[in-house]
Amino acid sequence: MITEKVVLNICVGEVERTLSIVKPDGVKKNLIGEVIRRFEQKGLRIAALKMLRISRDEARGFYIVHKERPFYESLTSFMSEGPIVVMVVEGEDAIAKVREIMGATNPKDAAPGTIRADFASDIEHNIVHGSDSPESASYEIPYFFSAIEINYQY
Ligand code: RTP
Ligand code: MG
Repeated sequence: MITEKVVLNICVGEVERTLSIVKPDGVKKNLIGEVIRRFEQKGLRIAALKMLRISRDEARGFYIVHKERPFYESLTSFMSEGPIVVMVVEGEDAIAKVREIMGATNPKDAAPGTIRADFASDIEHNIVHGSDSPESASYEIPYFFSAIEINYQY
């Protein structure tokens, strides 16, 4: 029943969830599967997944925390230039684990073996996004997914 599913999702409790995005450059470079594989290999689960193209305004809304930053216009233009894959990733310490698997924002600073070190071309075109805190995740997950689209797996 839909009602039970929604209640289960809202009551999920201790399991941490984060929003990740394969950015337009990652989709163009055929890295959707590679990003998901790296998350799954570390024991994280994909609880929701979809591919879509967002408008410039939708990108501005998603990255609203960066609205005063010099890269805001360029970043939101990039994020709306092609399809993206958005996903809810869950598991113990999902937020920190996804950030670790992604690597530092600038690929020059990213640790070897991270997604950004392996595939990103520069600080902006860095393949993947991950929520940086529980507060960010609680804004970012419902930006793309409703409760009935997120799957409780326990
Ligand atoms: P994200 O939010 O996408 O997961 O990346 P992040 O936390 O590692 O980095 P953040 O500081 O939140 O920046 C968001 C995205 O903006 C682009 N950026 N460009 N040109 C620049 O100096 C610059 N700095 C950041 C990147 O695409 C970065 O991921
Ligand atoms: Mg960020």
